[in-house]
Amino acid sequence: MEIRPPVADDCEAMAALAVQCQADPALHVPYLGSDAESIAADIRAVDQWTDTSMVAVDRDRLVGWLVAEIDHEMGRLWWLGPFVASDRVGSETGPAGADTWHEVADRLYAATRAVVSSAVDEEEACGDERSAAIAAWAARHGFEPDPASVLLRRERSVAATDPRVRPMATGDEATIEALHTAAFPGTHTTADALVASTEPRLVIDVGGRVVGYVACEHQSDGSGYIDFLAVEPGHRGQGLGRALVDHACHDLFAAGASYAHLTVREDNPAARALYASLGFVEERLARPYRIGFRLP
Ligand SMILES: CC(C)(COP(=O)(O)OP(=O)(O)OC[C@H]1O[C@@H](n2cnc3c(N)ncnc32)[C@H](O)[C@@H]1OP(=O)(O)O)[C@@H](O)C(=O)NCCC(=O)NCCS
Repeated sequence: MEIRPPVADDCEAMAALAVQCQADPALHVPYLGSDAESIAADIRAVDQWTDTSMVAVDRDRLVGWLVAEIDHEMGRLWWLGPFVASDRVGSETGPAGADTWHEVADRLYAATRAVVSSAVDEEEACGDERSAAIAAWAARHGFEPDPASVLLRRERSVAATDPRVRPMATGDEATIEALHTAAFPGTHTTADALVASTEPRLVIDVGGRVVGYVACEHQSDGSGYIDFLAVEPGHRGQGLGRALVDHACHDLFAAGASYAHLTVREDNPAARALYASLGFVEERLARPYRIGFRLP
């Protein structure tokens, strides 16, 4: 078996392999979708992806891959993968003469890490909570598990709108940045990037003052993702969070989203109760594994 950097043409075979892994909770990586088209789109969306990735090839068959998605400004990377063919799982040796899932995953990690700058010293991987393979792979490479997040999904539904909710406008930036930084210190999107994005950002205005925001994203598989939501502490418990999420869902579905989804920390009962009250259904538990940073 050979570990080598991918070429652009490997993308389809990589996506096809990932589709098989994504269907199996024991191999599922929650950062990516489950269909070949969206996985290929997400691989290609990684800046210079062929320079920060490795594939495992066994007698002309692509049997594994790992991509590092890097934010150089933050000095942090996210691992998309490892994806290793499921026939490598299950026995000590895998198929006759072949490397096991763990050997392939470890070699992919070592080879990919070696081509990524050492200045990038924060790393995050993620696996379905049921994946003992990904947990063991992460532990072998020094990752620490952090609290899991629940993946929630809401199917197409008639969602309400609220006159206090409106798109972010010029002049809202500082308030949104302050809310975001206070609610999500150290998260993957900085306050600057949040307000600079062209993705939907809604705010709720109470008596002429913005006291909450919700940030959404149209994803490559046609779904709508709710990325961040926060209400100022003094205004919580008054239905403002619910109004923001409901309005966001309304807008996402109106723009053609096939379904709405989000992740929420397992240990955030307030937000989980809010999403449950809006009909979001729990899909899976995603466990992040981190090196060099933790999220509070
Ligand atoms: C989560 C958050 C946005 C909720 O905003 P909010 O305006 O207080 O929520 P709402 O008043 O609209 O509450 C809607 C429902 O959520 C649930 N809920 C809200 N706060 C709750 C709490 N402290 N405990 C239990 N349930 C709670 C209730 O089911 C509530 O419905 P009810 O009032 O009919 O019982 C707010 O607590 C917040 O900004 N938290 C910090 C950031 C965060 O955790 N964001 C979510 C990340 S995914």
